[in-house]
Amino acid sequence: MAKMEVKTSLLDNMIGVGDMVLLEPLNEETVINNLKKRFDHNEIYTYIGSVVISVNPYRSLPIYSPEKVEDYRNRNFYELSPHIFALSDEAYRSLRDQDKDQCILITGESGAGKTEASKLVMSYVAAVCGKGAEVNQVKEQLLQSNPVLEAFGNAKTVRNDNSSRFGKYMDIEFDFKGDPLGGVISNYLLEKSRVVKQPRGERNFHVFYQLLSGASEELLNKLKLERDFSRYNYLSLDSAKVNGVDDAANFRTVRNAMQIVGFMDHEVESVLEVVAAVLKLGNIEFKPESRVNGLDESKIKDKNELKEICELTGIDQSVLERAFSFRTVEAKQEKVSTTLNVAQAYYARDALAKNLYSRLFSWLVNRINESIKAQTKVRKKVMGVLDIYGFEIFEDNSFEQFIINYCNEKLQQIFIELTLKEEQEEYIREDIEWTHIEYFNNAIICDLIENNTNGILAMLDEECLRPGTVTDETFLEKLNQVCATHQHFESRMSKCSRFLNDTSLPHSCFRIQHYAGKVLYQVEGFVDKNNDLLYRDLSQAMWKAGHALIKSLFPEGNPAKINLKRPPTAGSQFKASVATLMKNLQTKNPNYIRCIKPNDKKAAHIFNEGLVCHQVRYLGLLENVRVRRAGYAFRQAYEPCLERYKMLCKQTWPHWKGPARAGVEVLFNELEIPVEEYSFGRSKIFIRNPRTLFKLEDLRKQRLEDLATLIQKIYRGWKCRTHFLLMRKSQIVIAAWYRRYAQQKRYQQIKSSTLVIQSYIRGWKARKILRELKHQKRCEEAATTIAAYWHGTQARRELSRLKAEARNKHAIAVIWAYWLGSKVRREYRKFFRANAGKKIYEFTLQRIVQKYFLEMKNKVPSLSPIDKNWPSRPYLFLDSTHKELKRIFHLWRCKKYRDQFTDQQKLIYEEKLEASELFKDKKALYPSSVGQPFQGPYLEINKNPKYKKLKDAIEEKIIIAEVVNKINRANGKSTSRIFLLTNNNLLLADQKSGQIKSEVPLVDVTKVSMSSQNDGFFAVHLKEGSEAASKGDFLFSSDHLIEMATKLYRTTLSQTKQKLNIEISDEFLVQFRQDKVCVKFIQGNQKNGSVPTCKRKNNRLLEVAVP
Ligand SMILES: Nc1ncnc2c1ncn2[C@@H]1O[C@H](COP(=O)(O)OP(=O)(O)OP(=O)(O)O)[C@@H](O)[C@H]1O
Ligand SMILES: [Mg+2]
Repeated sequence: MAKMEVKTSLLDNMIGVGDMVLLEPLNEETVINNLKKRFDHNEIYTYIGSVVISVNPYRSLPIYSPEKVEDYRNRNFYELSPHIFALSDEAYRSLRDQDKDQCILITGESGAGKTEASKLVMSYVAAVCGKGAEVNQVKEQLLQSNPVLEAFGNAKTVRNDNSSRFGKYMDIEFDFKGDPLGGVISNYLLEKSRVVKQPRGERNFHVFYQLLSGASEELLNKLKLERDFSRYNYLSLDSAKVNGVDDAANFRTVRNAMQIVGFMDHEVESVLEVVAAVLKLGNIEFKPESRVNGLDESKIKDKNELKEICELTGIDQSVLERAFSFRTVEAKQEKVSTTLNVAQAYYARDALAKNLYSRLFSWLVNRINESIKAQTKVRKKVMGVLDIYGFEIFEDNSFEQFIINYCNEKLQQIFIELTLKEEQEEYIREDIEWTHIEYFNNAIICDLIENNTNGILAMLDEECLRPGTVTDETFLEKLNQVCATHQHFESRMSKCSRFLNDTSLPHSCFRIQHYAGKVLYQVEGFVDKNNDLLYRDLSQAMWKAGHALIKSLFPEGNPAKINLKRPPTAGSQFKASVATLMKNLQTKNPNYIRCIKPNDKKAAHIFNEGLVCHQVRYLGLLENVRVRRAGYAFRQAYEPCLERYKMLCKQTWPHWKGPARAGVEVLFNELEIPVEEYSFGRSKIFIRNPRTLFKLEDLRKQRLEDLATLIQKIYRGWKCRTHFLLMRKSQIVIAAWYRRYAQQKRYQQIKSSTLVIQSYIRGWKARKILRELKHQKRCEEAATTIAAYWHGTQARRELSRLKAEARNKHAIAVIWAYWLGSKVRREYRKFFRANAGKKIYEFTLQRIVQKYFLEMKNKVPSLSPIDKNWPSRPYLFLDSTHKELKRIFHLWRCKKYRDQFTDQQKLIYEEKLEASELFKDKKALYPSSVGQPFQGPYLEINKNPKYKKLKDAIEEKIIIAEVVNKINRANGKSTSRIFLLTNNNLLLADQKSGQIKSEVPLVDVTKVSMSSQNDGFFAVHLKEGSEAASKGDFLFSSDHLIEMATKLYRTTLSQTKQKLNIEISDEFLVQFRQDKVCVKFIQGNQKNGSVPTCKRKNNRLLEVAVP
């Protein structure tokens, strides 16, 4: 799936300004502050137009990942935040797509990150260019050339642990598709003096340490080396170890890289042998020896080292020894040999070591070139990467700095030329009027140095070649003469009196005012270094070596090719190579990377403004910016410009239909940007001041915020509306449900209320109807009753009328009859006696009575006294007679019935009658006693011999002899006693023995008490004060209570002529000795069956529970 393109711009989320052409105001301070601000935010890259400024972060940043490569791939240069990948991509695409050869110029001071930058460019290009086995091999060889060259050309210095001590330019060649084919490396001015001497705190080239640390014992033996660094004079010891650097591991890396690049094993071996030879050369020492001719001569102290070197290099020892002792000068077929003193011998030794090493280095470069050179002959596109020392200003600046600064001066020159050219070309291309740009042209300085007739380098060469004594001072004098009037040259001895008073300018120095600042050069060593002299004896000795590599390094040693001309001086060589380089660069499209070192401590996060200011100055960054924005500070193609700002104008937002240029025109008019602030090119809009761009950016930012607010507003509105609609929908649903529910509930309520009301109304109606009906019915009934009454009344009235009528009629009839009778009687009186009527009446009456009695005789009912029948009376006037007759008859038949009884039966009935009078309807026990005949003496004392004594004691007739339960006065328990009633006494006797226990004369019995209930308890109260009463009243229980009470009553009555008081009450008092005790009858439980129980509750109460 195609990745979605998000249009971004360098201007988005900028920290400071991403492109310094936009800096306002533009001065050194703002430039440095901008760099610092960005550096503090980990933005180490900043643009000046298409130039990339890189500030060394001294720590690894996560900005070189494969994802980052993908981010920057095929993106517009100004689309993303500044990055070295953006520049690499731009260069690569322009090379591949527009067929323009490219060069990437990386400059900056030592430790600023040039080499790292060049490697990043190469790795980016390697990552984005074509793939395939062959291409990959080429890529790999190109990349692996770096470790090899770094091992031999880099060293630890105080400024950089991996300082490149040579300038390097590498052409990478591509085919038409953009696939890499190979490359060509050029090296410039290796700092060979380092081989023999290193400043304090610095090291020799890495390879020496790597070899000694990483080589196997076997290899060391073969190379006649020892692992101990201190054994070698050429190796400084104070910083032999570098923090974080593993020399042994790096040695393996280098050998591996050499293998990848294509070095044969024997070649590697030879290279290492040369390295070993150089190391060992340093150990050759000389001692002075006076010769007879008085000349000083030097002698090798210890020939062992020399011997080993010769064994290693295959040089005849005597040849080499001689070369260290003599110097042969050949001139015009003349050969003059002079001996070398100790100093000269050391000079020769060091010169040999330096030459050997620098030539080895050049050989390595050539060897690598051989390996990586493009195999095909097709047309190539080239991308050059130049990693060369930047401008150097030290305290002591010597020949090297002079040359380096010259190189930088040249680079600045082509920078200005190319930038201006490019600007101009762009203006022409875009059809914009070219306005003259004021800028500092350093051509005059370049001329001061390189002019063939009176340039400083030419002067130096002249001095070197001049016969006679040549010293650095003579050189300076010459300069003073030739350059005295030059604006950019200053020296104490110059003729220009201006400088005479300048005390900051010491003797034996000259000062050049470079584009980047003034630099004071010490002339000491200039001549020597320029000469770069290696005695011919030594080169010849080397050529004679059996070692093929060494031999090939010194071709001038071949006597057959002897060349009496002096070899070109270092200065002229360098000038020539710089010229070639410049020529080379001028044909290419330049891309600049300016590296800046933020601090001297090699530390992360530290930004030393003073140090950076110094670099900004000599890198000419301010000048860069000025040139870059001389005419128009900012330009942009119409499409992206319109795309970026179209939201600022109604006509162009959201879509512009016409061509982009017209859109931009409309946009700028609308925004009322002054016309002098911009120009329309063919494809780009040119903006003169960054201010205008920032204004646009500010407006855009503001507008974006507004748009964001608008979008937010719409979105929020939409969200709220959707939410609201949803809520409303839900609300409706809920409301519907709720209403339904409420209505349902209400309906239920109404329904139930209706039902209640209905039922009430119905009830009320029904009752009303009922009432009415009742009323109606009552009315009807009343009516009926009234009617009935009325009818009755009517009927009765009628009846009474009829009766009256009948009576009247009867009366009339009677009266008539009477009248008739009286008339008859009056008639017949004369015929009858006067009282015949009375007689007739009496007769009639007699007849009627007669008839009545006769009829009665037949109607007499049965003789049973209980027969209630009696015939009805026939005549009203016989009513009283009839009743009387009935009474008489009843009495008569009762008499008849009584007459049948015996005396005993009579007595029994009398007693029963007595009992009925006493107890009927008073005591519940009574009815059950009615059926029982009263037997009196139940206990037949006479017959039982046990009671003989008792029988003997009693003379009177026994009325009652029965066993009763005497209730114990104290506890309510009962004991059986024989109860005897005689005519005068009441006796109690023991049941078993028959012994009399108590005897009470009946006169002393005052009262008998009993309950109204169905029990047999009764109390016999005795007369107070009587003898019998000493123990108190008796309380008995008997099954024949009714009989006993009745008989006691009758006997008492007949004996004392007093009625015995019988009290029937459920609560009565008895006298027990002194106490009056209440006997209370209560309704008891059925627990003991139907037998009543008696219990003495307390002194005052005795309770009888009757079931
Ligand atoms: N982009 C970077 N990211 C992280 N570290 C860096 C970067 N650039 C440089 N460095 C660090 O700075 C050190 C010095 O960088 P480098 O060797 O490239 O400097 P140089 O400019 O080539 O110096 P010289 O002129 O001495 O060769 C590196 O060894 C590395 O530790
Ligand atoms: Mg470097």
